[in-house]
Amino acid sequence: MAEAILKVEDINVYYGSIHAIKGVSFEVYEREIVTLIGANGAGKSTTLNTISRLLNPRTGSISFLGQNLAKVPPHKVVERGLAQVPEGRRVFLQMTTQENLEMGAYTQSANGAAEINKDLEMVFELFPRLKERRKQVAGTLSGGEQQMLAMGRALMSRPKLLMLDEPSMVLAPKLYEQIYEINEK
Ligand SMILES: Nc1ncnc2c1ncn2[C@@H]1O[C@H](COP(=O)(O)OP(=O)(O)O)[C@@H](O)[C@H]1O
Ligand SMILES: [Mg+2]
Repeated sequence: MAEAILKVEDINVYYGSIHAIKGVSFEVYEREIVTLIGANGAGKSTTLNTISRLLNPRTGSISFLGQNLAKVPPHKVVERGLAQVPEGRRVFLQMTTQENLEMGAYTQSANGAAEINKDLEMVFELFPRLKERRKQVAGTLSGGEQQMLAMGRALMSRPKLLMLDEPSMVLAPKLYEQIYEINEK
């Protein structure tokens, strides 16, 4: 079997004295869909935020595409192809749909505008609703539309691995299906 693209090994994460993640290990292989299941407060978001390097594990290690992430800052993690769609979407509310998507491409600026425009069209093809609303300020989008936008924004960084935190929380069942179908493409 090929090497795992993501390896999480025995991580322990604390918030002050609260031991939130206790010895978590798992691996993700190419083209695999891995789901973290747990009750509220189980530590799913903490795990994803630690992989993204927004939090530091006190012990344990995380490697992505064969490289240890211990000293890699979060924006460099995105550059390496690991993107996160945060819980609660966190889109830039005052910016338009298209501006949000362009922000997602900031690691791709060396590719030039033509390539970024291609990616933009790819996102609009996946989510025609976003194309209709490209000039609309994100704060006025519905919850489901903001979720699509958060996902589209992450896709603009051309991720090799996409981490979705509670992607179906606010979605109507039909949108939910659409988001899961994207993995097939
Ligand atoms: N910023 C924080 N400060 C202190 N404790 C936190 C913080 N964020 C999360 N926690 C605690 O860490 C644990 C795991 O939370 P979280 O990762 O958000 O769980 P989940 O995403 O599975 O619902 C919970 O007990 C939560 O209260
Ligand atoms: Mg959570």
